[in-house]
Amino acid sequence: MQGVARNFFTLAVIYSILGMMLGLSMAMSQDHTQLPTHAHIMVLGWIMSSVFAFFYHLVPAARNSRLSTIHFWAAAVSSIVMLVTLFMFYGGNAAIEPVLGIASLVYFAATMLFAFIALRALWGGEAAGARATAH
Ligand code: HEM
Ligand code: HEM
Repeated sequence: MQGVARNFFTLAVIYSILGMMLGLSMAMSQDHTQLPTHAHIMVLGWIMSSVFAFFYHLVPAARNSRLSTIHFWAAAVSSIVMLVTLFMFYGGNAAIEPVLGIASLVYFAATMLFAFIALRALWGGEAAGARATAH
């Protein structure tokens, strides 16, 4: 794994550890207030980032696109802001909600960019295919 695939997988592994630590602390304290934060760290953080990592690993035409770097940084920064502000929100800081909303929209935009990168790489015809076989 290299490039953007390796970056995404590194991010995913960090989220898996942080998300499980939060899940364990919820289970041990029997306080499940942070359920949505734990759920999103696990699925949006660990699962989504892993799927991006494996996709970029398996499809070099997608990984070699310069847009994939933009996707990584937009997804990484927005997900970190989103998950931290989600934790603050469920911790009782309701005023943080606009930041959470903006971060969510940026993460959504990043996923739209991924859809474009992925579908273009898979269906983009000879140019994408030639690059895919060359690497
Ligand atoms: C050390 C491992 C884990 C612990 C101790 C843990 C603990 C918990 C706890 C205490 C809840 C709240 C349950 C409730 O109030 O109904 C929960 C919910 C949840 N966990 Fe985990 N969890 C762990 C790993 C994971 C993993 C690996 C994933 C996904 C990849 C995951 C995804 C979820 C989701 C999606 C929910 C929300 C379920 C719902 O909406 O009812 N958890 N977890
Ligand atoms: C822009 C990104 C996203 C936003 C704004 C968002 C928003 C939400 C909201 C508002 C809820 C309800 C929470 C509650 O009732 O307390 C929810 C629940 C849930 N979402 Fe998301 N979500 C996003 C991305 C995702 C993704 C990518 C996944 C899976 C890969 C996911 C999986 C879940 C699950 C499993 C639940 C149920 C657990 C819970 O109640 O927290 N979400 N989400």
